[in-house]
Amino acid sequence: MEEKSEVVLQSVADWVKQKCQHDFTGHDWWHISRVVRLAQAIAQMEKADELLVTLAALLHDIFDEKLVANPQKEQATVRAFLYRQGLSEQVCQKIFNIIEEVSFKGGHNPKQPSSLESKIVQDADRLDALGAIGIARTMCYSGSKGRLIHDPDKQPRENLSLAEYRNGEDTAIMHFYEKLLKLKDLMHTDYAKKLAEQRHQFMCDYLAEFYLEWEGKR
Ligand code: ADP
Ligand code: NI
Repeated sequence: MEEKSEVVLQSVADWVKQKCQHDFTGHDWWHISRVVRLAQAIAQMEKADELLVTLAALLHDIFDEKLVANPQKEQATVRAFLYRQGLSEQVCQKIFNIIEEVSFKGGHNPKQPSSLESKIVQDADRLDALGAIGIARTMCYSGSKGRLIHDPDKQPRENLSLAEYRNGEDTAIMHFYEKLLKLKDLMHTDYAKKLAEQRHQFMCDYLAEFYLEWEGKR
């Protein structure tokens, strides 16, 4: 990447870091940082636009509807900030398009990734929802919302509407079935598919151990 891009990226990274310093839902700066690193690695393998991928990865959770009270207002703030960094309206729009296509929304996002860059950021974000880190983030999110780790009287729900997916009637363990275990088959790039397979297996092993301990068998 050229020098000017490096300066812009550093200033966007600093801004994002400061914006998410009060997040304790698993969408903190280190989530962003891991997604950026994964997305950059995949972008290089896929020969995608690395600058665009990095900017979208950095900003992908800043105006998420489940994390901020007023997503539209937050998006306008991001736009104004990017203009101040000298980015054109066209580049800003590309970044926003990617971000709008990335979110899972209980499987209800009406938008599908329409570009290679969008597929890459989505793969990277979803990889961070899987494996050892994915498990930790899920427990963290659930706890931050005042929900239980597990309730054997509750079963995972199927065919959820977005409202049901977000209504808080779930436990951390239910979230594995309602989202996490579905992700490995939704990856786009070869590298993400390979990593997702390993991380998926780790979560299955984790769940098996979890139930054994729950039942006092181990
Ligand atoms: P997206 O932001 O792509 O729509 P999610 O809303 O599922 O995706 O949130 C991203 C991450 O936040 C999940 O991978 C998980 O770690 C955590 N999370 C979201 N909803 C829940 C939930 N109901 N229970 C536990 N963790 C959740
Ligand atoms: Ni994210």
